[in-house]
Amino acid sequence: MPDTPQADVIVLFGGAGDLARRMLLPSLYFLDADGFLPDGFKVVATARGDMTRDEFLEMVKSDLTARPEGLDAAVWKRFAARTDYVAADATTEQGAAALKPHLEKAKAPIFYLALSPSLYGRVCVALAAAGLATDESRIVLEKPIGRDLETSRLINVSVGAVFDEERIFRIDHYLGKETVQNLIALRFANTLFEPLWNNLTVDHVQITVAETEGVGDRWPYYDEYGALRDMLQNHMLQLLCLVAMEPPADMEPDSVRNEKVKVLRSLRRFTRADVLNNSIRGQYTPGVVGGKQADGYEQERGQASNTETFVALRADIDNWRWAGVPFFLRTGKRLPERRTQIAIQFKGVPHSIFGGAAKDDLMANRLVIDLQPDEDIELLLMNKAPGLSHGGIRLQSLPLSLSLAKAYEGPGSRRRIAYERLLLDVIAGNSTLFVRRDEVEEAWRWVDGVADAWREAGLTPKPYAAGSWGPAGRLRAYRARGARLVRLISRCVRAGSAAWVRPPGADRGRAPCGRW
Ligand code: BG6
Repeated sequence: MPDTPQADVIVLFGGAGDLARRMLLPSLYFLDADGFLPDGFKVVATARGDMTRDEFLEMVKSDLTARPEGLDAAVWKRFAARTDYVAADATTEQGAAALKPHLEKAKAPIFYLALSPSLYGRVCVALAAAGLATDESRIVLEKPIGRDLETSRLINVSVGAVFDEERIFRIDHYLGKETVQNLIALRFANTLFEPLWNNLTVDHVQITVAETEGVGDRWPYYDEYGALRDMLQNHMLQLLCLVAMEPPADMEPDSVRNEKVKVLRSLRRFTRADVLNNSIRGQYTPGVVGGKQADGYEQERGQASNTETFVALRADIDNWRWAGVPFFLRTGKRLPERRTQIAIQFKGVPHSIFGGAAKDDLMANRLVIDLQPDEDIELLLMNKAPGLSHGGIRLQSLPLSLSLAKAYEGPGSRRRIAYERLLLDVIAGNSTLFVRRDEVEEAWRWVDGVADAWREAGLTPKPYAAGSWGPAGRLRAYRARGARLVRLISRCVRAGSAAWVRPPGADRGRAPCGRW
């Protein structure tokens, strides 16, 4: 939307909820601190809770004060002056009308729905009825957009009846993370990797999103979704798309999103037979995480449940570039460490010229992109081990390392909340980092296939102790190369992090899991 004016007000629906308090209001405050909010920009939070403006501001102030960055008095004064609170039920026309006085001068308002997706349609209807949905207004939708393809279509239709597609910003906060955007830079601002980025050179790709947190109080939402719909349908498939997509012609929203949709369309559908070889479901039981006793999911939930808190699966992209390259995706709650990582495992050398002991030293190159907790990129390369040894040279694998934290450390190098980037883009009307309707629906189509195949095969979640790396299981690795490698991969999944994706450097000098 090149001619889109800057937004002049943001209305946060669910403005006193967890997402608004932990992410959205702090992000707006930091944008204000850094001078990114346009002059006169207003923040209006709305929720059903009967609070006065002063009470609301007091709550936000204490949330900000409790953050590690602390509160800057001058910034707070400016931010508080532009912030208001309206107690209203935005699913009714009357509730939406209560917002009117705050939007009278607004030319391009943003409506941010930090609400249950089941309310999206009703809020849009109420906004239209109150005459607030204008040509320049835009709407931001939080994931999950639906629970499957059908429900996501219903939401998209009801929101689309009020807002044109280019005014709809479907947010996936992973796309706002610095290293995720850096993946685009790494691939398309360097000539180095692109010629290697295909099935001739890449052996497989691993994407891991490991969390130490459990589900806790969020179970009423989570129990209906599970790890497949909560994490894999959105965050992980977005990461997969950015790794796998063809170079877009430019960074225009549709250029990038067209390429992502092509990847999603090329994902091989799961069948009932595949699901047993290519996926693992798990659910945490009581255990110890970070030295502390942790409840199992069913204790938190208060009753037995068939919802998975862990999923690992092999995805195949049936296109020219990626045919035969498995993409292993893994995510889980209550795992031993918080780590989001993409590992591109290259193939080994076609022929080893190194004899003797050095023959076993050889490890294939690997590019490891760490998104959190640290933002690092490492390329593992083989080197000669220093010094003398009997029987010729020895080799070792060493990382060529780019630590973003170290490269940019110093005053003012605060690590940004992913929402800051995305809010700034909505204000400017740039939707490159937002998910288009066909993208979200293609992702659901594939995920529905996995869920259907699980159901048909009767695959229930296997228990794993909180603080472990998930249940034992098997993912078929290389169909063509037979059972030996299947065993290796299954050992990887069973053995946990040390074997699936090792923390960078941890496997120095030794191939993890025998081969990797
Ligand atoms: C959310 C999921 O979208 O992402 C949560 O609903 C998950 O279950 C969270 O914990 C993870 O986000 P991050 O940025 O902490 O990796």
